[in-house]
Amino acid sequence: MVDPVIVPDAQRAARLAGKIAIVTGASRGIGRAIALRLAREGSALVLAARDQKTLIGVADEIAAGGGVASWVAVDLRVTAAPAAVVRAALEAYGAIDIVVNNAGATRRGDFLELSEADWADGFALKFFGAVRLVRAAWPHLQARRGAVLNIIGVGGRTPGPEFAIGGSVNGACLSFTKALADIGIRDGIQVNAINPGFVRTDRLRGQLEAAAADHGGDTEAAATQLARRSNVVRLGEPDDVANLAAFILSPESKVVAGCAGRSRRRPDKNGLTALPSSARRRGVAHNWRQVCYPDPRTRNRRQSFCQFSQR
Ligand SMILES: NC(=O)c1ccc[n+]([C@@H]2O[C@H](COP(=O)([O-])OP(=O)(O)OC[C@H]3O[C@@H](n4cnc5c(N)ncnc54)[C@H](OP(=O)(O)O)[C@@H]3O)[C@@H](O)[C@H]2O)c1
Repeated sequence: MVDPVIVPDAQRAARLAGKIAIVTGASRGIGRAIALRLAREGSALVLAARDQKTLIGVADEIAAGGGVASWVAVDLRVTAAPAAVVRAALEAYGAIDIVVNNAGATRRGDFLELSEADWADGFALKFFGAVRLVRAAWPHLQARRGAVLNIIGVGGRTPGPEFAIGGSVNGACLSFTKALADIGIRDGIQVNAINPGFVRTDRLRGQLEAAAADHGGDTEAAATQLARRSNVVRLGEPDDVANLAAFILSPESKVVAGCAGRSRRRPDKNGLTALPSSARRRGVAHNWRQVCYPDPRTRNRRQSFCQFSQR
């Protein structure tokens, strides 16, 4: 019997002390929130995105909060870019513990109007960018028994008609996560995904503005409508995803592998979720639910009780 990892409250603020984390798409939205949160938990950061100015802004914000961050301005659609991110991390810190694949941008629109280039771009960034980054980082993660966290999206299972590219890319990322989680169990690397629903970032703001213009209301009314249509209590905030990311990457969830967390639809009768009680106590899990179950086929000794599965 293996003792569960219990982190005392006093140590929670620095659950990731001494860790080195790469976060892609760290200049804005969900990636920025995750980077800031991991820094607060004690991790040193490598921030990756294209725009140097915004990256420096986030790095400065982390430094102002007492954290450590370096940045690398890259277009992750370029084949060689992910390896350059890994090199930058090794040059800055000499090791890598965590890779968060978050960068993603796919064009929405009518299927027949989406071009070959739109499809290629969507896959080049989010799918191949993640695959290449993980390939380049894997030996270094293996050396430190590290972790990969993929930020994907519920559209990978339930894409609407405007989301053919994003849904297909996310579907591929989900399959990649499942395969990688099994390989990770073999190699001692923890692999999980978070499947956000709608989260209030610049990307969503554009959609809300378009909806407001179409229906003659304001963006807040469009947000309320969208939440109602999506059958969620409220739209997500970047910090909701960051909270879950910090939990998944913390020692408290070391036994979670191959899981995809997603927005939960309705509170259960206690307003709680299926996440462990330690997460509930800290309010981490308000909006999230794991969609994984024990898998009796898992024969490894790391007690990976969670297998990626349908719900
Ligand atoms: N927001 C949502 O409702 C929602 C829902 C489900 C899933 N997601 C997923 O969550 C992730 C983050 O979404 P978000 O809403 O936070 O996005 P966002 O606000 O648009 O931010 C995207 C980030 O990715 C970077 N990026 C974009 N193209 C890049 C490229 N070619 N190379 C390197 N970096 C690039 C951007 O910086 P630069 O432009 O400077 O490169 C930025 O830092 C995405 O994978 C998205 O699919 C979001």
